[in-house]
Amino acid sequence: MSEGSLVSSFAQRFEMRVPVVQAPMAGGATTPAMVAAVSNAGGLGFLAGAALSPEKIASEVAAIRALTDRPFGANLFVLEPAAPDDATVRRALAVIDPLRADLGLPPGQPLERYAPDFRAQLDMLIELRVPVASFTFGLLSADDVTRLHANDLYVIGTATHVAEGVAWRDAGADAIAAQGAEAGAHRGTFIGAFEDALIGTMALVPQLVDATALPVLAAGGIMDGRGIVAALALGAQAAMMGTAFLTCHESAIPQAWKTRVRTMSDTSTSVTRAITGRHARGIRNPLMQRLSETIERIAPYPVQNALTQELRQSAGSAQNADYLSLWSGQGAPLVRARREDLGAAELVTQLEQEWRAATARIAAFK
Ligand SMILES: Cc1cc2nc3c(=O)[nH]c(=O)nc-3n(C[C@H](O)[C@H](O)[C@H](O)COP(=O)(O)O)c2cc1C
Repeated sequence: MSEGSLVSSFAQRFEMRVPVVQAPMAGGATTPAMVAAVSNAGGLGFLAGAALSPEKIASEVAAIRALTDRPFGANLFVLEPAAPDDATVRRALAVIDPLRADLGLPPGQPLERYAPDFRAQLDMLIELRVPVASFTFGLLSADDVTRLHANDLYVIGTATHVAEGVAWRDAGADAIAAQGAEAGAHRGTFIGAFEDALIGTMALVPQLVDATALPVLAAGGIMDGRGIVAALALGAQAAMMGTAFLTCHESAIPQAWKTRVRTMSDTSTSVTRAITGRHARGIRNPLMQRLSETIERIAPYPVQNALTQELRQSAGSAQNADYLSLWSGQGAPLVRARREDLGAAELVTQLEQEWRAATARIAAFK
């Protein structure tokens, strides 16, 4: 088999030598250095833009462009502006304040703003002509997708089940990010209950391939070349990998978080909305446990996320993993096979070698 014939049409379109998309990861992991390193190494790097102001998105994109001429993506959360009532905020803070006190922080206060303005972020992606834009937590209108296309942006919608994939296809998306239940951090679910949408990557990917006939990127639990081969065998055009890149050298998350990811087991994570108000998979720790005890007091996303942010940032500065949100996928123990502090480019190179070797191994089966 020639090298070129291994590459999917999605990979060809974005000049990728290896069918690996580095998943966007809000919270400090996907720095411009990581995004550019992945794209330069032959994968597709992705900036997590959701938590950033439009101005910060512009400066991060400029930093990426200073480091690479290759295609890359940027990701946003599709969110309505949050306007919580005072009682909701006070109820949530009553649970958060004792945790803040543990870290020497004063009681929390209602905030002026709970998340950056999504429409302004979207306008900025268009103004910057980011080559690839992906979205989670919701659905864009067909008019928005048309506007993105008119400005040459390739559009990827996240789906956790078939109806979401079909909704994105009907809105005009170019590709689907299929987020299996194994995936680290927030569930993208926007139709129906989250617990009905915990579909494993193995079951989800072929169903989305068949139902949408769009290029599908498989996300959730893919950590090495074996996983990439499996994803492609299911009909995906690339593997979208988050947790595998989380502990890389360029990832700017606290070292205490990286250490927990490298020492956890396959049963160490739970999916909870206690920390941010939206269901997300992370390593169990005292922060998750204590907030989960009074789940009825948790504010919806993005309010709870913003109200716990200072606490988590303060825990990060202190390298205190007990009070961090330790987002991670179920495949994390597989990172222990790799050198600590591995660079993202080296990881892409290793993945390419593993993927080609695993493909050759299967081809040799009699
Ligand atoms: C720390 C972390 C942060 C994440 N942040 C985002 C995000 O900002 N936007 C998004 O679409 N997905 C986000 N994800 C989910 C990934 O896009 C992807 O679905 C997931 O990482 C795939 O599963 P894996 O972690 O097992 O590789 C995040 C994942 C992690 C681990």
